[in-house]
Amino acid sequence: MDRRLEELEQDALAALAAVADEEALAAWQRSVFGKRGTLTLAMRTLGELPKEDRPAFGQAANQVKARLEMAYEERSRQLAAQALARELEAGRLDVTLPGRPVGPGHLHITTQVLRQAYAIFAEMGFQVYEAPDVETDEYNFGLLNIPPEHPARDMWDTFWISDVLLLRTHTSPGQIRVMRERCPEPIRVVLPGKCYRYEQVSARSEQQFFQIEGLAVGHAIRMTELIGTLTDFARRLYGPERRIRIRSSYFPFTEPSIEADMDCILCGGAGCRVCQYSGWLEVAGAGMVHPVVLHNGGYDPTEWSGFAFGLGVERPAMLKYGIDDIRLFYGNDLRFLRQF
Ligand code: FA5
Repeated sequence: MDRRLEELEQDALAALAAVADEEALAAWQRSVFGKRGTLTLAMRTLGELPKEDRPAFGQAANQVKARLEMAYEERSRQLAAQALARELEAGRLDVTLPGRPVGPGHLHITTQVLRQAYAIFAEMGFQVYEAPDVETDEYNFGLLNIPPEHPARDMWDTFWISDVLLLRTHTSPGQIRVMRERCPEPIRVVLPGKCYRYEQVSARSEQQFFQIEGLAVGHAIRMTELIGTLTDFARRLYGPERRIRIRSSYFPFTEPSIEADMDCILCGGAGCRVCQYSGWLEVAGAGMVHPVVLHNGGYDPTEWSGFAFGLGVERPAMLKYGIDDIRLFYGNDLRFLRQF
């Protein structure tokens, strides 16, 4: 055989043996069989040979080509098998291993706090009443004495669903629903539920959070009963030594309106980072039900009176358990949730 062909074949086979992956194999294929590949160029020299040598050269070149093609196929199969073996080794799956047991879960911290609150309020004679999360503008604002364009609407940044539907910004619209359902009976209910506000999320504020609304309607209900109820609730939840401080406030649906603060559970009122060194923490907005709201609920405000309050759930839970960021509640991190 022509010496050049012999050398070409040996060199090509040696190079092929050194090929270690698919990419190098493709490069080898181009370097031998490509347009400017060694074999292609060698075969092109056929025309330059003396006529009598051409048949033997052509035959030898074709045999070299066939052998190199076979060697290429073989190497290609070997590389594929090696790659598969590596892949299987890396992603090894032992189907005989026993499965990992999934332990029983437990109640979410919010649910636990809600249930503690229901139990406390049940002892005070409050029933649980549920109202819808999707509310009308009328119930969330209008019937609570906040007409369209009233500046108090700015107190609640709202997720609107349509011109008249929204995600409730507080549990207070449930007051109207329960009054319209129970009128003319006296009422003592708590209305727990999720509220939604288009607010900047921070360590203290979420866009979704729970509130517990309280509503009592009867004859000659007074502010002292409201304060007594809130104080009793705080003491039952946080311990008998807790103190409540009342500040005047403003809500369109209560008159007079108050804000109830509790002495800081963490520092006992001495002042710390959580209470911003004031010694007090806000626990609820509250007040005597506004006559317009009683009227909208079907009760005659000259005969009936009532109190209402709105408690947050996550913020009090943060205090109880020393949690410093509200975003942890719904971040679905089991390492956090398993602690409670
Ligand atoms: C209200 O929502 C009134 N509806 C409360 C009320 C009810 C007053 C009945 C009078 C009579 P306020 O916006 O202050 O008020 O919210 C009440 C509580 O909800 C707050 O004290 C806080 O604990 C909780 N809260 C409010 N916004 C957020 C928020 N973005 N993230 C977490 N908790 C919040």
